[in-house]
Amino acid sequence: MDTPIYDFLRDYASSGTVRCHMPGHKGRGADLGTALDITEICGADSLFEADGIIRRSERGMSALYGTADTFYSAGGSTLCIQAMLAAMKQEGRRVIAVRNVHRAFLNAAALLGLDVGWVMPDYTDGILSVTVRLADIEQMLAQTTNACVYLTSPDYTGRMADIKGIAAICRRYGAPLLVDNAHGAHLRFMPDDLHPITLGADMCCDSAHKTLPALTGAAMLHTSSERYAGVLRQCMSLFASTSPSYLIMASLDLCRRYITEQIQADIDLNIGEIGQLRGRFSGSIGFAEGDPFHITLKAAESGFDGNELAELLRRGGAECEYADRGLVVLLMSPMSTHEDYARLSAALGGALKTAGRHEPQPDGIALPLPERAMSIREAVFAPSEEIPVEDAEGRICAAVKVPCPPAVPIAASGEIIDRRCIEVFRRYGIATVNVVK
Ligand SMILES: Cc1ncc(COP(=O)(O)O)c(C=O)c1O
Repeated sequence: MDTPIYDFLRDYASSGTVRCHMPGHKGRGADLGTALDITEICGADSLFEADGIIRRSERGMSALYGTADTFYSAGGSTLCIQAMLAAMKQEGRRVIAVRNVHRAFLNAAALLGLDVGWVMPDYTDGILSVTVRLADIEQMLAQTTNACVYLTSPDYTGRMADIKGIAAICRRYGAPLLVDNAHGAHLRFMPDDLHPITLGADMCCDSAHKTLPALTGAAMLHTSSERYAGVLRQCMSLFASTSPSYLIMASLDLCRRYITEQIQADIDLNIGEIGQLRGRFSGSIGFAEGDPFHITLKAAESGFDGNELAELLRRGGAECEYADRGLVVLLMSPMSTHEDYARLSAALGGALKTAGRHEPQPDGIALPLPERAMSIREAVFAPSEEIPVEDAEGRICAAVKVPCPPAVPIAASGEIIDRRCIEVFRRYGIATVNVVK
């Protein structure tokens, strides 16, 4: 019988492709199979009432990250984002968010009926990567009572925000700082500890599965505050499956051991390899600055087409995390090896030699905040229709239509789609949008 998913996975696993994409285990490490896949039997504890083996593991993880508390998620950072925002909803807070949020945030805002105040950043690498002015956050906080601040750092290209500076502003206004650190679970263990909790965030989510050796879906919700430690698990349980995967939780448990015994040496090795790779190619192509494990090639700015480079890399045996016209993101992890970098280096050398060239094009975009016609929740639950992007001017965006990855909004639900949005939709090859009927 045809088993298309399983067959695809088996073929990919045996292809020997260099995995420059999630998950962070890179196909290596403990083989967690069906024998270990159980349910909440006696002695196995229960994630949402944890006081046994799960709790022991979470407390161990909390000690490694230096948090007040840490909770496991088998539903990725998506579930952690839902929980963080639900905790803010309980306190009746208005969410001030830097615009380059992941779709998980918008979906949570719709489910929770949140009113979001947007801080518009400067877009540096298409819609994926931004810089935010601290003064803009402060200005929003000064105008908003009972607020919290939400930001995404690192972003999809690895660029990091000034969390320390933003945390100081948030403290002055009594606003909790929530960080989507889905891409930065490893940051705590870098030579300089750049983890959001260390830098002053009140809460953050880490997708362990993105940059650590953990199964897809494995994430952690951290808090530095005893106040939130008491409510976050219950907030998580609002949205989660009642059958969280023990394999995913076990992979987080094994991650603790990896962090304790091995991560430092692996990070040192990887930083050296990444430095050499960048050194070898920096005369041919630009690299974005930020977290070293995100090797982001600035294709358009260097006179290449990112999609073509990704295809050539694939033919050379290296699969990237993300590509568009402007960028290629190669997501490595501490589990990446010398052999991976040697093969990636050969593939990239070949790709840069054979790829077509064009005039270098700046990848920045201007995307002012579209006008809002209704709330995110109203728009998401309104009757909607899918129409060609070309016909969407003046219509209200219903569901957020963006490719995943990167899943960053061009127009958010409830906003009126204007010409500039349409240009950016086209730039990302988005042909249709969902609009309110
Ligand atoms: C910035 C960002 N936040 C949140 C998420 C959601 O994380 P998860 O896939 O762990 O649910 C992603 C997923 O790619 C992401 O890129």
